[in-house]
Parts: sequence; structure tokens; C-alpha cells
Amino acid sequence: MADISRDQLIALLNEDLAREYQAVIQYRTYASAVPGKYRQELREFFTAEIADELGHAQILADKIVAMGGKPETVPAKVKYTEDPREMLQNALKDEEETVDRYVARRDQAESCGEYGLAVDFDDLIADETRHRDELRMMLKRWD
Ligand SMILES: [Fe+2]
Ligand SMILES: [Fe+2]
Repeated sequence: MADISRDQLIALLNEDLAREYQAVIQYRTYASAVPGKYRQELREFFTAEIADELGHAQILADKIVAMGGKPETVPAKVKYTEDPREMLQNALKDEEETVDRYVARRDQAESCGEYGLAVDFDDLIADETRHRDELRMMLKRWD
């Protein structure tokens, strides 16, 4: 694993923050827009994710500021759809990518001497893994 500078770590944390904000907006949008006979169940599921993602955004924004950076304010691009299955597939892809990014980020934080942040990423990885697993199970049952 190549070592990175603190400025590079801040830039990567800002990319993560933009994606957490995207997740908040995307889950909110999906919860409101989801149609069909599973609407009630999916609405509850999407709504339940929002608080977790917002909590992740808080951890990242606080840390970026503590490290002397400026927190990102623009979310990554939200993928809009009105197809329930596509909503689940989009969310699953995002969660899978996020788990991979946070596993890498935990090591990068440690290599920068940010041991507390590395431990925070353990919690984030656990949350995103749970989101990913739930989405996988929902899609499995969908077929
Ligand atoms: Fe998250
Ligand atoms: Fe998530």
C-alpha cells in the first residue's frame, strides 16, 4: 500500500463525504418515490438508511475540519429511477463500492497516523456491510 500525504487523505475523505451526502439524498428520494406492491416495505427500508449515512457524513465532515481541510458541500450524483428493483441495484452497487473504499481508507488513515479515524472506519465498514448484505438479500428474494 502506497503511503499518502495528509492533504491526499483530506481529498479522499471529501470524496467519501460527497458520496455520503449522495446516499442521504438518494435514499430519501427512493423512499418517497418507490412505487408498487412493496412500496411500504421498501419505503421503510430506504428511510432507515438515512440516519446511518448522515451519521457517517458527520464523522467525515468533523474529521476533515479537524485536519484543517474544508468539507465538501456538493453531493456526488444521485441516480434517479422509479423502478424498485433498479433502486435496490443502484443502492447495492453504491454500498459495495463504499465498503471497498472504506477498507482502503482505514489503512490510509492509519498510515497517516490517524489511528482514531482508522477505528471510526471500522464502524463505518460494519454499517455499510450491513446495508450491503440487506440489499443483497432483498434482491435475492426479488428474483
Ligand atoms: Fe455511509
Ligand atoms: Fe450505506
